[in-house]
Amino acid sequence: MPELLRIANLHASIEGKEILKGVNLTIHTGEVHAIMGKNGSGKSTLSNIVMGHPSYKVISGDILFKGKSILNMPTDERAKLGIFLSFQHPTAIPGVTVTNFLRTILKSTRGKDVPIKEFRKEVRGTMAKLEMPESFASRYVNDGFSGGEKKRNEILQMSLLKPSLAILDEIDSGLDIDALKTICDGINQNRSQDRGMLMITHYQRMLNYITPDFVHIFVDGKIMMSGDKSLALKLEEKGYEFLNVNS
Ligand SMILES: Nc1ncnc2c1ncn2[C@@H]1O[C@H](COP(=O)(O)OP(=O)(O)O)[C@@H](O)[C@H]1O
Ligand SMILES: [Mg+2]
Repeated sequence: MPELLRIANLHASIEGKEILKGVNLTIHTGEVHAIMGKNGSGKSTLSNIVMGHPSYKVISGDILFKGKSILNMPTDERAKLGIFLSFQHPTAIPGVTVTNFLRTILKSTRGKDVPIKEFRKEVRGTMAKLEMPESFASRYVNDGFSGGEKKRNEILQMSLLKPSLAILDEIDSGLDIDALKTICDGINQNRSQDRGMLMITHYQRMLNYITPDFVHIFVDGKIMMSGDKSLALKLEEKGYEFLNVNS
């Protein structure tokens, strides 16, 4: 399968503090990767940097998407290339309805207007699968949404945008078990041979519903260990402390 994303020896900082200390990761099309790591290890920093968040400074290394460096590309260009990030803490956009927001991002990433009838049908169908009531469509984005509603809204965006690479930053945080199942079903429906996914999570429980091809353990700004699903189970069983024992 062709290469989708390659992160090569990436070092990056925020406010003068080095957070990423040599990240190496390659994702091919069709693959689902999971990154697990303690709070503060730099997982959100990594996802924000891949998406091009301007607050972070890349010190050295490179990020390639389909073989080309994207380091100098602004976030909207990266989105147009087919990179999507679902935020750990999605922000509210009072005054902008879910429907208008979705239509705008679809138009901007596809570069053309989506016929309204087709758009409505697609939104309705996807919302039903995610068990979102229809009234949701006319609410303001993330404004007063519960934790679970915010996460469903992120998956709704992903399902409509159909990005080549989806990065899901702690999409499982704050969800009860039913919401987790619904969201994981939504994610699984987005798996395909011509797309890739990077799931970032603190807990193994999400991986009971979504089987990743690779699991990476992130410690202090870099990948310390990689394996398959069994690595996540081992981590669950022994806790992050087992890393200290082995290192
Ligand atoms: N905007 C910021 N300003 C200052 N420090 C930050 C900022 N964002 C992240 N950090 C620091 O970077 C480190 C990694 O954070 P983060 O990437 O959010 O970790 P994780 O997602 O693994 O919990 C933490 O020490 C955090 O305090
Ligand atoms: Mg985080």
